[in-house]
Formats: sequence, structure tokens, C-alpha cells
Amino acid sequence: MAFDISRRLMLTGAMGASIAGASACATSTSAVSAATAEAAFPPSAVPDPYLLGPKEGVALLSRNENPYGPAPSALKMIEYAASKGAYYTSREAMMMLTEMIAEKNGVAPEQVVVTTGSGEVLSAIAMIFGPKGPIVAPRLFWDTTALYAVNLGMASIDRVPLAADMSIDLAAIEAKVTSETGLVQLCNPNNPTGLVSDAATLQAAVKRMAKKTTVLVDEAYIELSDDPDANSCVPLINAGYDVIVTRTFSKIYGMAGIRVGYSISSAETAEKIRSVAMSWSPCTSFAAGIGCYNDEEFLNYSRSKIQEGRDMVTTTLETLGLEYLPSQTNFVYFKSGLEANDVQKAMNEKKISVRGQYMDYNEWTRVSMGKIPDVERFCKALPEVISA
Ligand SMILES: Cc1ncc(COP(=O)(O)O)c(C=O)c1O
Repeated sequence: MAFDISRRLMLTGAMGASIAGASACATSTSAVSAATAEAAFPPSAVPDPYLLGPKEGVALLSRNENPYGPAPSALKMIEYAASKGAYYTSREAMMMLTEMIAEKNGVAPEQVVVTTGSGEVLSAIAMIFGPKGPIVAPRLFWDTTALYAVNLGMASIDRVPLAADMSIDLAAIEAKVTSETGLVQLCNPNNPTGLVSDAATLQAAVKRMAKKTTVLVDEAYIELSDDPDANSCVPLINAGYDVIVTRTFSKIYGMAGIRVGYSISSAETAEKIRSVAMSWSPCTSFAAGIGCYNDEEFLNYSRSKIQEGRDMVTTTLETLGLEYLPSQTNFVYFKSGLEANDVQKAMNEKKISVRGQYMDYNEWTRVSMGKIPDVERFCKALPEVISA
């Protein structure tokens, strides 16, 4: 169901009061600890403690989730929202999160569309722009939503080979772009490589391409990059370029199962996206987003645990002399020298889940950061798998 954001509603006193309430919620976060989150939902309270989340004893390092979330500030709001679950998500809650995102990014609320995970908004974008012409993208990127439009017969993807260092070859992409191009889709940092594009080069290329067609930059992992503000393409939107940026609460916020994502674009593009977005996000999602969006204490904690895991993995890879890409995300892409699907199978036997092969990158494995003991298990298992 589309969410029709109106200026009139934005200006009502009720909305102002709601926003004030949201800020109070967002800043009343208590100390962060994984134990707090677990204590809120003791495993004994559900019929099968492994109904959701990783199965018993499994180190789930294959899906780029972040087990440090949800933040206690989000969990509190989810509990509150669940108690109001008889009701459709209120317009006030939708506006509140929209307004918070707009404020933090220096855009107007009309430019923000909040959806059920960024997957929804990305699919909507692929459906809007796919019929105009090919989606030009790097050969390796998170292509699930572009493929959604392809599967509906609404788009085609023109995949451009990566550069020799496996970064996105922006010059090669730019050379393909014309006014007939439906969409340019970039992912920064990219998945599965984990690489960030050089900020100045990216922004200059995006500006030139956006004069010819719409450029989408999927920034799902941007908060985990070394300098999110410098790396983001959001400032190009207010400078008038035809750019859409998408973000998610699934990564640094650790809320992959809660499903909140959003896009930032011109108000005109946002209106088009809203008109084809398919769901009305659950009240629990909006509430969780409101609870933790500005929870800097949690975000710093989440970032530091991911960084700790990443350092452990890269130290192990260096010790083993294996090539890897310098990741600025919650996963690492490395070249084991073995078939990726064999590495996956051998890891599975040790109850460690890592990603299998992408396209023809048969010797490359992607491992996501999990809880530190799970990352430790991976680091211990890797030499055994490699030498088996
Ligand atoms: C680059 C990228 N974008 C978007 C998503 C979708 O995330 P979500 O739909 O959970 O927001 C993912 C999921 O892994 C991703 O890797």
C-alpha cells in the first residue's frame, strides 16, 4: 500500500508533537549489551528457541546479518509496537521515522520513502526504471532486486566487468551510459567485494552520468565504511542531480528480520517510488526504526564489534597468505584457491555457514562477521579446510 506523504500533514501540530516524542525515545537509550537484548526474550519463552535465528551450534556467517542488533532502544519500541499490533501502522509513526531520516540527511521528508527493508524500495526502483532501458551495473553487485524486474520481463541488466583490482570500473560503466539507459545501479560499498569506491572519483562519475539518466547508489553498508559522510552520494541529490540513494536498517542496525529500509531522492522520484511500493511496513518496523535511528551509542558498539571480527578474519587470511579485498563492510571476500562451493561444504560440516560461489568467481568466498566466538570458529576452521 502506498504511503502518501502530504505537506499538509507534515505541518500539523500533531506531527510536531510526535517528532518531539520520537527524539525523547531515541535519546533515552540505556547502556548497550547483548545480554540486555537476550534477557528481554529468554529462549524458554518460545516453543522452539531456534525457530528464528541460527540453529543450535551454527555459526551463521553467510548472509551479512549483524547479530549485535537489534539495539535495546529498538527492542523496547518493538515491544510497545507489538502491543498495538491490532492496528495498522499509524500515519504519525510513518511520518516520525521519515522526518527523522530526512533531518539527519539534510533533505525534506518528501524526498524520503521508507519501505519494508531496502529490498522493497530497490525492487520498486528496478520496476520503474527497467522498462526505459537497460540497468547498467558492475558485473558483481547485489543484483537480487534488479533480477526481480528482469524476472517480470520489465528490465535487462548490462553487466560491466570489474577493474583488475575488483573495484567497480566507473569509467567503463560511464562509457556505456546514454540517455537511453534505464538506470545506473551502483553499490557502495559493493557486495560481495566489500570495496568502497574512491569518493571523489565516484561522485564525479555519478554527476556526469546523472545528466544522462537516473543513478541509483545502494548504500546498504555505508555506515560501516571508514568515512560515511565523505563516501555518501546523498549530497548530490540536493545539488539537483538525478540520483537515488538507498539505505537499510539490516546491516549496522542489526535488524535484518525487522525489515526497514529507505530511499532518498528528489521529491518527484520519491512520489513515483511510493506509487509502486507494495507493502505498508509493520508497526514493529517503524517503531524499531524510531527507537534506534539516532542511537549513536549502539551504532558505535555495532561498528566496533564488526571491526573486531573483520580484523580477526584478515589477520587469519594474512597468516595463511590468502588474497583478500580490503572490506569496509561486515563481510570479507577472499580467494581461498579452492572451489568456493567446496569451501562452503567443508565449513558446513563444521556447522559454519559461509557463502558459496558467485558467478564464475569460483575461488572466492564471502564470510560475514558474526558474534566474536563464531568468527573465532571460522578463523580456527579455515586453515583446516584449506589444508584438507
Ligand atoms: C547491497 C545490499 N543492498 C540491499 C540489501 C537488502 O537489504 P534489506 O532488504 O534487508 O534492506 C542487501 C542485503 O544483503 C545488500 O547486500
